[in-house]
Amino acid sequence: MKKIIVANWKCNPVTRSEAEELFDSVSKGVKDMEVETVICPPFVFLGLGSGILGAQDSFYEEKGAYTGEVSVTMLKELGCQYVIVGHSERRKYFNETDELVNKKIKAILGAGLTPIVCIGETEEERENNKTEEILEKEIKDGLEGVNLSKIIIAYEPIWAIGTGNACDVEEAQRMREVIQKMTSKEIRILYGGSANASNAKGYLDAGFDGLLVGGASLKASEFIKIVEQGI
Ligand code: PGA
Repeated sequence: MKKIIVANWKCNPVTRSEAEELFDSVSKGVKDMEVETVICPPFVFLGLGSGILGAQDSFYEEKGAYTGEVSVTMLKELGCQYVIVGHSERRKYFNETDELVNKKIKAILGAGLTPIVCIGETEEERENNKTEEILEKEIKDGLEGVNLSKIIIAYEPIWAIGTGNACDVEEAQRMREVIQKMTSKEIRILYGGSANASNAKGYLDAGFDGLLVGGASLKASEFIKIVEQGI
């Protein structure tokens, strides 16, 4: 199966022209590579580019009086095939709970899209040997009643996100096995957290099915180098 490299642009870039330029450079750079490359820009830039698209979040209802929300059906209409859900930044800044994440996953699957479900522990939880407990809770509550064969999980230790302090490959690999044991052997698992062109290969060789890339996805040349590691 092809590796899957996901660009999570978060709340970047600010202008339409920057977004267009990044989109075009990345799309051209990865065009002939045997790697599934997914670009997840902010909602407002989803219509700009071609290629495999993903969203960074979505609402669980299809439509209605929910000011500010964007539904999965709308995302599908724009060509999205993937939706990131339960990212730690959404859990932290927008109080998203496992119950909400569960509703969103079900809506995403219901529309025939693939959820990329983020799970991971904080530094404090890791120091207190709570990592496995946290992952277990996020899996148990977040994936309750979900068809596991249709989802992708991203293991993103929170302390590694945006810090330049990526998780050791051996440790990430150990957590990958833990997640696999808690879910299913067939499930696809990505690594995320300060992934870059220099460390990407380590995770992919260790058995991860791909990467979720934040900061390093905002520079086309760096991101293309990461995608190359997935060939
Ligand atoms: P990072 O972000 O690559 O900047 O650490 C990863 C993510 O949050 O998905």
